[in-house]
Amino acid sequence: MLIDILTIFPAMFSGFLDESLVQRAKEKNLAQIRIFNLRDYSGDKHKTVDDAPFGGGGGMVLMLEPLHRALESLAKQEEEKSSTSIILTTPQGERFSQKKAFELSLKGHLIIICGHYKGVDERLKMLHPLEEISIGDYVLTGGEIPSLVIIDAVVRLIPGVLGDFESAQTDSFFEDILGPPQYTRPAEFDGLKVPDMLLSGDHEKIKKWRRKEALKRTLQNRPDLLNWNELAEEEKKWMEENEEKEKSE
Ligand SMILES: C[S@@+](CC[C@H](N)C(=O)[O-])C[C@H]1O[C@@H](n2cnc3c(N)ncnc32)[C@H](O)[C@@H]1O
Repeated sequence: MLIDILTIFPAMFSGFLDESLVQRAKEKNLAQIRIFNLRDYSGDKHKTVDDAPFGGGGGMVLMLEPLHRALESLAKQEEEKSSTSIILTTPQGERFSQKKAFELSLKGHLIIICGHYKGVDERLKMLHPLEEISIGDYVLTGGEIPSLVIIDAVVRLIPGVLGDFESAQTDSFFEDILGPPQYTRPAEFDGLKVPDMLLSGDHEKIKKWRRKEALKRTLQNRPDLLNWNELAEEEKKWMEENEEKEKSE
């Protein structure tokens, strides 16, 4: 996958993209990440990319022309336009989710636009098919952190990036539930013991136990995620028993 980032702060990306899983994906040639300075697409010698908003008010707006020029140039480099997604980071977009990350992980080319100041000129979306993505209901200074969030979530789902894809399958949101609790050595610390089941060596039983714990946790922390119709009868029964137990405690 080719990922292009358009930003006015390219230096913000050094470090993060050279570590951990993203670095591994680059080394394995499963992801290539390029950072473009929007100022290089400005039409003047001062490299201007922002201007005051029409109608007045504070702040600046990223101008249409440099963004349009940059997108034209980047889109041209990918032959198969159908597999390119142009993402505009904005608090006004669709809320980013694991489902969206999966969808994007199947693309061949992502172009991510990092907004700044008051955002980008509204007319950009009339010139290019933008997918507007928000990473949550709060406002950050720029789209650099949101773009890193998107890249991290997407790259780990590209086939071959994770050494053990099963690990992603048991993470929160792979299905509509949270992940189960995790423990590692020592088996006992200061009187706190790891659940016996995890030491039993019975993989089938451990799998069932984890599923049960994950469901329990989802019911407690994020009941909005649960799709009761998709639960097995046995699972619905566990959940009901669990609810009864909690009520009586
Ligand atoms: C200060 S914000 C602009 C906010 C905009 N005026 C508004 O009211 O929606 C500047 C830039 O940061 C990025 N940004 C801020 N918060 C974000 C969020 N929650 N999700 C995605 N991008 C965000 C966007 O690229 C945005 O253009």
